[in-house]
Amino acid sequence: SQTDRELLYKIHEVANNFFQEQMRETEEGQTIGLAYFKERELREDIIKKFQLGYSPEKRDAFTEYALDKGYTKEILEKSGLSIFPEYAEKGVDRFRERVMFPILSFSGRVLGFGARILKNNVKAAKYLNSPETEIYHKSKVLYGLSQSKQAISKENLCLLTEGYMDVIALHQVGIENVVASSGTALTTDQIKLIKRLTENVTILFDGDAAGIKASFRSIDLLLAEGMNIRVLLFPDGDDPDSFSRKHPKDFVEQFIKKEAKDFINFKAEILLTEAENDPVKKAEAIRDIVKSIAFVQNSLKQEVYLKEVGNKFGITEQSLFNELGIQKQIKS
Ligand code: UTP
Ligand code: MN
Ligand code: MN
Ligand code: MN
Ligand code: MN
Repeated sequence: SQTDRELLYKIHEVANNFFQEQMRETEEGQTIGLAYFKERELREDIIKKFQLGYSPEKRDAFTEYALDKGYTKEILEKSGLSIFPEYAEKGVDRFRERVMFPILSFSGRVLGFGARILKNNVKAAKYLNSPETEIYHKSKVLYGLSQSKQAISKENLCLLTEGYMDVIALHQVGIENVVASSGTALTTDQIKLIKRLTENVTILFDGDAAGIKASFRSIDLLLAEGMNIRVLLFPDGDDPDSFSRKHPKDFVEQFIKKEAKDFINFKAEILLTEAENDPVKKAEAIRDIVKSIAFVQNSLKQEVYLKEVGNKFGITEQSLFNELGIQKQIKS
């Protein structure tokens, strides 16, 4: 209901302040939470800009705080910030002993949180995220959009990364037109958020197998929405965060500008490496690229893309058009 939604916004704002205060004003927060961000070389202004915080170890630190402030058990449960198990007499916090990344709406309201575990190689999930609530729908949110929207418009380009720290690290080196899909498969709703600001996207996913797979999927979805796409895979399994901490700012900027390929060359490079000199596999690679082009709605663009494939592979436009027709039929 409307009242619930208002309360959910309010309680998230309260929680966001709580986690930031815990990090700044408690011994535990400073030595564990703040120290974690310092270890990852985040500057103070960036920690503030992204409103990063810390959730204490105590089982019900936030739950108790919020109950004391008059929030009900029902709204705490609906917010996903507290869990009230049937067997237990008291509620417990969902987020404990983690560093906190508030997830903001386009206009800057707190909708939920991502929360990172402090040590790697522990059995628990590396990032714990808010569940779906009346105000948080993960398929409709892009992390960093609120802090990046102006730069995206100004640059007329949106850099699309996988993770929270990728967005933050790029801001720290002065690249501010960046969002993250936060590990979930990119959705059409998310693309529509970007499209309000720009039609140009550069995909900067992690340089691992999962990143390649995700970029292939995202390319088709972005093409279907009429977006212009470039893609860059970081070398050696780096992600934008690790890469930007290894190299100077100017180098990172130039690297993103120069190494990003249009989607045809990107797919060709990956698929042809897999195909080696096998002609059957090469034909498969071409078909795979034409499949992506079949997602493009604008027929002029389609023709330009097909020409590019033709030139690249030495295939006549006629055969490519035939293949495009086949792919479109399969899709409909
Ligand atoms: P990654 O595994 O690439 O993590 O997942 P990362 O962002 O590089 O994290 P750091 O650098 O180790 O801190 C990319 C994104 O997928 C989501 C998060 O949004 C993460 O930023 N994710 C990942 C989860 O939601 N849960 C997980 O357990 C792991
Ligand atoms: Mn809703
Ligand atoms: Mn990854
Ligand atoms: Mn990563
Ligand atoms: Mn990372």
